[in-house]
This record gives sequence, structure tokens and C-alpha cells, in this order.
Amino acid sequence: MTTSADDPADGWFPESIASDYDNPGGANTPETITPAVDLLAELADGPALEFAIGTGRIAAPLATRGIPVSGIELSRAMAARISSKPGGETIDVTIGDMTTTRVPGTFSLVYLVFNTINNVTTQHGQVEVFRNAAAHLRPGGHFLIEVGVPDLRHLPPGQNTVPFHLETSGDDHRYAGFDHYDVVTQQFTSNHITVTPDGRGEFRSIPFRYAWPAELDLMARIAGMTLTHRWADWNRTRFTEDSTQHISIWRTTT
Ligand SMILES: C[S@@+](CC[C@H](N)C(=O)[O-])C[C@H]1O[C@@H](n2cnc3c(N)ncnc32)[C@H](O)[C@@H]1O
Repeated sequence: MTTSADDPADGWFPESIASDYDNPGGANTPETITPAVDLLAELADGPALEFAIGTGRIAAPLATRGIPVSGIELSRAMAARISSKPGGETIDVTIGDMTTTRVPGTFSLVYLVFNTINNVTTQHGQVEVFRNAAAHLRPGGHFLIEVGVPDLRHLPPGQNTVPFHLETSGDDHRYAGFDHYDVVTQQFTSNHITVTPDGRGEFRSIPFRYAWPAELDLMARIAGMTLTHRWADWNRTRFTEDSTQHISIWRTTT
């Protein structure tokens, strides 16, 4: 629930969200983080820059591998958590928008994980993310994105909603999560309804824009990069028609 401590400038990730973001489980387990950090550490043969670095969930453990890591982040509330993590004290964070913010230095790797390209809700803005990544890379440097494959195969004609999580029998709360798609505009929302035992509910709806992997390849080309790898996960599983997410890596061509 949003609180008075929330600063509107922090967007969808204000204090009330940031304070729970690092709770154990889910995306914060070693099983999730370690393969990501392993692959990023292998790709980085020099400084790395994370777009939308958040609380440093990935960047801090990457920094503990001896890689100089910088970050760009919109939310001060999220970024405030980075320096208290092992490795986080070495990370330079710039508060700003990854579509336009430039930081000093040249990087071997720029990366943007956890579906966050979708948080930029226009095609123009997403292209600017690619152009900004390329502008920070040294020749031959890599740009990596982790993002879900749009769930369009779950939409039969006439349907625009895909449930992704339901808890209907919890003692402390009940929950419904669903995505709502507009296949004309490529806009979608992720929606969360939480109901407490006394029957009170909270509804939270977050806007996104989805792009098919081929559209991301075209954005990379506009920014002067070509695809080098596309995997289904951080363990380099082959990407197939049934993959639900992809790790894509493009390389600057100049
Ligand atoms: C799902 S979190 C991911 C954080 C981190 N990368 C991780 O993997 O845990 C999305 C983050 O993106 C940030 N964000 C969203 N749009 C942004 C933008 N245009 N520029 C910079 N940061 C942005 C949010 O503030 C939030 O911290």
C-alpha cells in the first residue's frame, strides 16, 4: 500500500515498494541470482553498467566478483539500499532515466534485467534505451536484456487477460495477479489484487509495453548493435517457441 513516505518522483518503485523488495524468496534466492551474476561476470571484461539497477540485487554480487559496476536508477528509494549490501559500497549510482541519462566512463557491458525494458511504455523510449546503451559501450561491448516473451499465445480470440498467480485459500491474505493486454498498441498492465482476512482489498496496476524479440533486434540494429546470443534462461538453455523469457545479448558493430 502506498504511504505518505512515498515520493512520486520514485515512480512505481517508491519507499513502500523498496522496503519489501529485498525480502527473501522469489527473485532474491541464490538459485536465481547466481547464474545471472555468473553470466554477467563472464561477459564483463571491464566496467559494467546496469540500467535500472534497483536495490543492487544483481549489481552488488557482481561487484563482489571484482568488476567495477555503475548504475542508473529512477527511484531514490530503491537506490538507497545498494550501498549497505556487500559489494554495493563500491557502486556508483546516478539517479536518472535510462532513456536519457549519461554517466561518465566507457563500459564493456551494459545490462537491463528483470523485464525492465517493458517499464518504458513507448516504442520511442525503448529505442532510446538501446541507443543509450550503445552510447555507453566501448567498441565490441555487449548489451544484455532479460525479459519475458509476450504471453500472446495464451490469448485466444476475444480474450485479453492472462492470470499469472492465484491464491484463493490463504489464511493471512488472498491474491490474484493478472496481465491485461492491448494487442493493437502493445500496451499491457500487470494487475495485483490483495485481499486481507477482514475482506479489505488493494488493487495495484502497473503499465508496461511489450515487444517481440524480433522488435528488440531491430531496436538494437537502429542503435548499431547485432544479436550474438539469445537463450531461454541464465543457464544458456536453447531458446525455442515454448520459451517464456529470453536472455538476449547484442554487440556493438563499431
Ligand atoms: C523490477 S525492478 C528491477 C531492479 C533491478 N534491476 C533488479 O533486477 O532487481 C525495476 C527498476 O527499474 C527502475 N526503472 C523503471 N523505469 C526506469 C527508467 N526509465 N530509468 C531508470 N530506472 C527505471 C525502477 O525504479 C525499479 O527500480
